[in-house]
Amino acid sequence: MAIQKATNITWHQGHISKEDREKLLGQKGVTLWFTGLSGSGKSTVAHEVEKIFYERGHASFVLDGDNIRHGLNKDLGFSPEDREENIRRIGEVAHLFTEAGLITLTSFISPYRSDRQKARELANEGDFIEIYVYCPLEECERRDPKGLFKKARAGIIPEFTGISAPYEEPENPEIRLETHKNSVEECAKIVIDYLEKKGII
Ligand code: ADX
Repeated sequence: MAIQKATNITWHQGHISKEDREKLLGQKGVTLWFTGLSGSGKSTVAHEVEKIFYERGHASFVLDGDNIRHGLNKDLGFSPEDREENIRRIGEVAHLFTEAGLITLTSFISPYRSDRQKARELANEGDFIEIYVYCPLEECERRDPKGLFKKARAGIIPEFTGISAPYEEPENPEIRLETHKNSVEECAKIVIDYLEKKGII
């Protein structure tokens, strides 16, 4: 877990608040936290939702696990400690983006409940929406879009989520999607309907 290393640092309060930025952008900054197994459809749905936001004139951005691991988090692997640090950093980045007034979508397995809870605690009340992208393991394994389940079963990839590493299901997600039952478009609509109902968009 990250400790506070730097000393002699002082928080600088700016002149512009989150509300000011939201007014400028004409929207509310929130985090849509997608969680679920590899192959469940997190990124596919998140990008579909992003497309709808774009078409409606909302500024949003997808932080995607595979992409972030090419850059910001390229120093992290898949041990429990590295996953914790992965999610800690993304929780912080998502919080910054949200404070900037963006609709921020994150697409990470984020297998540990406690790590997701910490990301939630960074957010203001109501600004963190957990979306459980549910899909049975067998279906994720059947899809196997990157061929990783096959490698995990063969023992080539260790600590693979759902096979040799845990996934702790959300207990109280704001939204639950079932990608084995609903199409990408239907799942995206469920997310959009929720945001409209809550007056977020
Ligand atoms: S997390 O567990 O730390 O949240 P993250 O979402 O960033 O994971 O990355 C998951 C992606 O990394 C998967 O979609 C898959 O493409 C790839 N991957 C590679 N090795 C593993 C592994 N051991 N377990 C899970 N995903 C892995």
